[in-house]
Amino acid sequence: MANKTSTIQTIYDLCRRSFSPTSTLPPPSQIVQTLYSLLDTVTPADVGLEEENVDDDRGYGVSMLNPFNRAPRWAQPITYMDIHGGDSFTMCIFCFPTSAVIPLHDHPGMTVFSKLLYGSLHVKAYDWVEPPQFVKSNESEYSQVRLAKLVTDGVLTAPCPTRILYPNSGGNIHCFTAVTPCAILDILTPPYLEDAGRKCTYYHDYPYSSFSKDEAINDGKEENYAWLAEIEAPNVYMRPGNYSGPSPLG
Ligand SMILES: [Fe+2]
Repeated sequence: MANKTSTIQTIYDLCRRSFSPTSTLPPPSQIVQTLYSLLDTVTPADVGLEEENVDDDRGYGVSMLNPFNRAPRWAQPITYMDIHGGDSFTMCIFCFPTSAVIPLHDHPGMTVFSKLLYGSLHVKAYDWVEPPQFVKSNESEYSQVRLAKLVTDGVLTAPCPTRILYPNSGGNIHCFTAVTPCAILDILTPPYLEDAGRKCTYYHDYPYSSFSKDEAINDGKEENYAWLAEIEAPNVYMRPGNYSGPSPLG
């Protein structure tokens, strides 16, 4: 009996045909739409995951802390699994325990597809205000802050549509916090590459009112803006995991 082509293989083939290692323009809209539709059909089982890891900490509040049989939730790492790493795109999975955080970071010149496979995830995402608006900062350790506009600040619960962020829109700078155990399938194109100017930078966001600048915004909604300061890369507790889904060939 002939093997049915896996969804992951179909996605991989499309990415391989369509993505370039150098283009920092978003992929053509037809490709984006096709990939978006394919990703929307991906289930945890398609990538070798069981929905909601039973060995997790759901319902595990501080008041129930039992030091004898469970690690505290803050001691649990995020597990990442590489499916594909190449010049044109990377495909990987992040599995979060409850309360795990990937702090605010950017994807310069990149397009990223994120499919929430199971669970609930809080997403906060910004795009830079253009033209760039800076304020020199004297009071903090950061030399300057840059104005960004809030794009998303809410909880996603699977099943939900795939999120796509673009180089200059869609929430290119984002932060993830796991509300429950959850997992994301990510496709990044092109991948991070420091020599090509695609370096991951981490940020701290300050409320708009923290720094004053005349007429920095013109829609009057200060709550939709923040000043972002570059920070040192934080220690994110991650460990590699074994991907047990179908490995794409080709
Ligand atoms: Fe990201």
